Amino acid sequence: MDILQELQTRRDTARLGGGERRIASQHAKGKLTARERIDLLLDEDSFEEFDMFVAHRCTDFGMEQDRPSGDGVVTGWGTINGRMVYVFSQDFTVFGGSLSETHAQKICKIMDMAVQNGAPVIGLNDSGGARIQEGVASLAGYAEVFQRNIMASGVVPQISVIMGPCAGGAVYSPAMTDFIFMVKDTSYMFVTGPDVVKTVTNEVVTAEELGGASTHTKKSSVADGAFENDVEALIEVRRLVDFLPANNREKPPVRPFFDDVNRLEDSLDTLIPDNANTPYDMKELITKLGDEGDFYEIQEDYAKNILTGFIRMEGQTVGVVANQPMVLAGCLDIDSSRKAARFVRFCDAFEIPILTLVDVPGFLPGTSQEYGGVIKHGAKLLFAYGEATVPKVTVITRKAYGGAYDVMASKHLRGDFNYAWPTAEIAVMGAKGATEIIHRADLGDADKIAAHTKDYEDRFANPFVAAEKGFIDEVIMPHSTRKRVCRAFASLRGKQVKNPWKKHDNIPL
Ligand code: HXC
Repeated sequence: MDILQELQTRRDTARLGGGERRIASQHAKGKLTARERIDLLLDEDSFEEFDMFVAHRCTDFGMEQDRPSGDGVVTGWGTINGRMVYVFSQDFTVFGGSLSETHAQKICKIMDMAVQNGAPVIGLNDSGGARIQEGVASLAGYAEVFQRNIMASGVVPQISVIMGPCAGGAVYSPAMTDFIFMVKDTSYMFVTGPDVVKTVTNEVVTAEELGGASTHTKKSSVADGAFENDVEALIEVRRLVDFLPANNREKPPVRPFFDDVNRLEDSLDTLIPDNANTPYDMKELITKLGDEGDFYEIQEDYAKNILTGFIRMEGQTVGVVANQPMVLAGCLDIDSSRKAARFVRFCDAFEIPILTLVDVPGFLPGTSQEYGGVIKHGAKLLFAYGEATVPKVTVITRKAYGGAYDVMASKHLRGDFNYAWPTAEIAVMGAKGATEIIHRADLGDADKIAAHTKDYEDRFANPFVAAEKGFIDEVIMPHSTRKRVCRAFASLRGKQVKNPWKKHDNIPL
C-alpha cells in the first residue's frame, strides 16, 4: 500500500509544477497552466502522459538542489474529437518553462513517436528560452528539436500555439511548424528582445510592438491567427485539427454534413456588380460554397487581397485560395503570393484538394514591388500550383488578366477542372490598358479610343475565347457553383499524378 501511496504523492507533486505561488502568478497574468491547457485542448480524460518524473541533470549554480519532476514541460498524447495527437505543453511555473537538455529530450520523444505513428504534433509554448544554467546543453536540446521539426515537416501536421514568451533562437522551432497561433496580450515572439534592440539599434520598442500577436498576424505574417485568450486559442486549434489528416499518407477525415450538395444559390447570379471596377466580397462566395457556411480562415489579417483557409464540401476538407476584390482590387503582390504559396504547399503535402476562386486584375505594379522581389515571390505561387498534384478545381468569377491568369491554378498548371462564370474576363489585360498600347497612334482621339476599347471588350472580356481553346472546361451558372465544384472534387477522388523523381525541388525562396 505504501508504494501505491508513494506513486500518488509523487504524481501530486509533479502535477503542482512550480508550486501554488507560481500557479497563482500564472493565473494573475490571465494565463492557464500547462496542464489546464492540455485539459482544454484534448478530449476529456484522453491525455496519457510521458516522462512525468524526468528531472534535469544540471549540477551548476546549485541546480542539484532543485530538481522538479517533469522539468518544465508536460508531454504525451491524447485525442481531439477521437483522433490521436501528440502534445507538449511548457510549464512556465518551472524555471520559466525554460528548455534544458532533459526538457528537450521529452519533446523529442513525443515528436519521434508522432512521426512513427502518423499523428499531428501540437506544441503549447510558454518559455523563457534556453535554460541559462545549462548553457550549451540547452542549445543542443533546441537543435535536436529543430532537426525533428524539419524531418516531420510534410509528414505529420505540426501546430504551435504561443501562449507566453518565446524568444531568441527558440522562435525557430515554431517557425518551422505548419501553423502558429498566438494569444493576444500575453504572448510574444522575437529573435532579440526590446533591451537588445535598444542597445544595438537605439530603437525603443515594447515587447508587444516588437513581437506581439498583432505584429505577427498583421505585419510579419509569422503567425497565422491571434486569439483573445488561452481558452479561445485552444478551441480554435481543435477546430483546425478537425480539418487536417493525421499524416501525409492518410486522407483528411470526412465529417457528417447536413448541407445539400445540390444546393443552388440564386444570390450568386447577382454577386458580380454591373461595373467591372466595383468590388464585392469574395468571402460571401466561399461561405456559400462550403458545407454549412463554415470557413476556417488562415492568415485572416495579413495580405487581405488574397483569402486562404479550409472549407468542407460533402464533408471533405478543401483548401480555398481566393482573390479578394475588396482589397487592392484583388491583385497579386509579394505578400499575397507568399501567403497563398505556403498554403498551397501545405495542402499539397497533406493531400488536401484545392479550390481556387479567381478575380485578379494582375500583379501590383511599382518600384516597391520590384525592389522587394515580386518576381521571385510571385514565382513561389506559380511554382506551388504547378508542382501540386492534389485535385485542383478553379472557378474564374470575373477578371483573370495577364500572368496572374496563368498563376491562379490555370489549366496550363494542371488544373483538373477550370470553370468560369459568364461574367469572366480572360485576357492579357483590361480593355483600356490594352487599347492604349495597341492603338497608341489614336491616343489623341477619344472617340476612336472608345471604339477600340469597346471592340476589345466585345472580343476578349468574356470566358468564351478561353473556352473555345479548351482552357476553360465549362462556363457555368453562378447559382450552380456548389453543385458543380462538389461533383468535380468527387470525380477526382481517385486522382493519381506523380512528379518526376528528384531529391527535392528548388522553389524560389
Ligand atoms: C532559467 C529562467 C529563464 C531561463 C526565466 N527563468 N527564464 N530560468 N533559464 N531562460 C525563471 C526565472 O528565474 C524565474 O524563476 C521564473 O523563470 C519566472 O521568470 P520571471 O523573470 O520572474 O518572469 P517574468 O517577469 O514573467 O519574465 C519572463 C521572461 C524573463 C521575460 C521570460 O524571465 C526573461 O527575460 N528570462 C530570460 C530570457 C532569456 O534571455 N532567455 C535566453 C534567451 S536565449 P523564479 O524561481 O523566480 O520563479 C535563447 C537561445 C535559444 O533562448 C537558442 C536556440 C538555438
